[in-house]
Amino acid sequence: MKVLVTGGLGFIGSHMCVSLIENHDEIVIIDNLYNSKIDVLNRIEAITKVRPTFYQFDVQDVNRLEEVFKKEKPEAIIHFAGYKAVGESVAKPLMYYENNLDSTFALLKMMEKHGCNNLVFSSSATVYGVPKEVPLTEDSPVQSATSPYGETKLMIERILTDVQKVHPEFNIAILRYFNPVGAHKSGLLGEDPNGIPNNLMPYINKVAVGELDHLNVFGDDYSTEDGTGVRDYIHVVDLVKGHLLALKKLSEEKPGLFICNLGTGKGTSVLEMVKAYEKATGIKIPYEIKPRRPGDVAENYASTEKAKKEMGFTCDYTILDACKDGYHFQVEEEKRRK
Ligand code: WQD
Repeated sequence: MKVLVTGGLGFIGSHMCVSLIENHDEIVIIDNLYNSKIDVLNRIEAITKVRPTFYQFDVQDVNRLEEVFKKEKPEAIIHFAGYKAVGESVAKPLMYYENNLDSTFALLKMMEKHGCNNLVFSSSATVYGVPKEVPLTEDSPVQSATSPYGETKLMIERILTDVQKVHPEFNIAILRYFNPVGAHKSGLLGEDPNGIPNNLMPYINKVAVGELDHLNVFGDDYSTEDGTGVRDYIHVVDLVKGHLLALKKLSEEKPGLFICNLGTGKGTSVLEMVKAYEKATGIKIPYEIKPRRPGDVAENYASTEKAKKEMGFTCDYTILDACKDGYHFQVEEEKRRK
């Protein structure tokens, strides 16, 4: 199948591209390099021996997008492109609403015009807001998210739902990610945010290679086993396997609209993650307990029942694998920087 991957040079997108090529799909990437590097294209080629077709522009650019649809005629879209920093979205809401919504509108118009009927959308567990109970199922109430970033995911889910109602020929998978972590085993692909990372794993990776002095643990007074925040950390390679299965389901079963969690079904606390990282890498991760971070919830992890039942999805990788792979990527990235 010919698949258009928006944001295909990003952390999750690049792993998706490798997985699609290995699945013998033909891919076309659009990425504006806002939060990615052109070198990732070389790395995808180094891993797969295939150099994907690549276009550098913003998906909101409908004219450029139409040229790609006319020329490449994709049969499916996996839409990763979008701003995703929670804190930044609070400071720059208009930038987030415009970018994340306009890029989706542009893609939907192309689907209507060019007969591309399959779309996989990168959503987030953030649409569940502050969970009333865990594990979270797809029937757990979605509620106003804790940031404009989360609101864009919620709004796009609603837009996709309404558009699919008037386009029964569209098959749309909305995948709600929990916390993606880890990296490709080659050490060539991984998460390498600019500046000080907001997220736990990239921060620990930088502590492990000595770029940052210690980890700040945001709160140890939550109602969890060890008092620190609990999340569902899913290896990025498992995450993209879930996308491949969703794409297969769309093209074979034509389900119309399909909403599914992608997580491991297991919660891991911050301190458990630190211990796992030290066990996986042999590197000591010093930390200091700090006050809670505004907007954080105590506990958040997925029910994986629907993913298993409807897609046969199960995770192959563990937290230890994610720590080992993340550290390996960070070490290789430091070498490449020298
Ligand atoms: C995880 C835990 C923190 C950093 C966010 C987005 C979500 C999704 C994934 C895009 C929490 C603690 C963190 C640190 C810490 N992104 N922590 N010290 O907040 O669950 O989810 O990323 O889709 O939408 O909201 O992930 O990694 O920031 O935090 O103690 O330096 O680690 O308090 O308990 P989060 P996170």
